[in-house]
Amino acid sequence: MITHALLVIFSAVSPAIASPASAQQPWQLQKDVKVPVTLGVMSRCPDALFCEAVFDQVLPRVADKIDFSLTYVAKDNSSDPEFGATCMHGREECAGNVQQLCAAKYAPVKNWWEFVMCQNYQTREKIGTPEVALQCARAAEIDWESSQVGQCAGLDGSGLGEEGIQLLHESIKNTQELNITNSCTVVINKRKVCVRDETWKQCENGHNRIDFIRQIEAEYQRLNNVTGV
Ligand SMILES: *[C@@H]1O[C@H](CO)[C@@H](O)[C@H](O)[C@H]1NC(C)=O
Ligand SMILES: *[C@@H]1O[C@H](CO)[C@@H](O)[C@H](O)[C@H]1NC(C)=O
Ligand SMILES: *[C@@H]1O[C@H](CO)[C@@H](O)[C@H](O)[C@H]1NC(C)=O
Repeated sequence: MITHALLVIFSAVSPAIASPASAQQPWQLQKDVKVPVTLGVMSRCPDALFCEAVFDQVLPRVADKIDFSLTYVAKDNSSDPEFGATCMHGREECAGNVQQLCAAKYAPVKNWWEFVMCQNYQTREKIGTPEVALQCARAAEIDWESSQVGQCAGLDGSGLGEEGIQLLHESIKNTQELNITNSCTVVINKRKVCVRDETWKQCENGHNRIDFIRQIEAEYQRLNNVTGV
């Protein structure tokens, strides 16, 4: 029994190096594999706001089974003096992207998402402005200064923090690697499953809240080898 107890402790602290053989043992504490779920968006895009509103209803149902993120559609542009990037809906959109990326990095998921939802609620034309960033940070209980979100995104709320701009470029690269060109594109475990572009397109398995939940559940079961459920 001592051996088993040690194994339990060992596997609990280092699941990553457990061998395939020991993975079969019933006493092993296994960590589940989360499904990566990503929306390709632009912070001021009407299709993104639409998509995010649907996912606001999807998230509570699958929160413990996914790693959720937003990845931004924009273009690197070295002639742009502020961001080194061009965003389709103007410089404020680049600022909005940066604010959201910094909140994603430094705030808990729940507060980050509240921040994004708050911005969307202020109407599209105000997303990315300093006023809305600071107001939504308060609403989402993100301390703009002490939580490092402000350091990252610019303490005046302008989205011109050095780190935030770096995050924007990493995000643009990630978007390209996922082969995403449209806002909004729904990606479940690296597979594009749906696009919202004025209407829903290429949504083979549906585009309603229920359809996304079902696809995520199925992917979760597949990734974790769940059978007979
Ligand atoms: C690059 O940025 C400059 C300055 O913001 C802008 O005038 C130009 O149109 C941009 N180029 C592209 C291809 O978006
Ligand atoms: C990227 O997307 C385009 C259009 O959806 C598709 O034709 C192409 O094969 C994709 N490339 C990769 C590498 O997935
Ligand atoms: C699922 O099964 C495959 C092949 O049998 C294995 O390689 C993989 O590690 C398993 N995944 C989990 C999370 O148990």
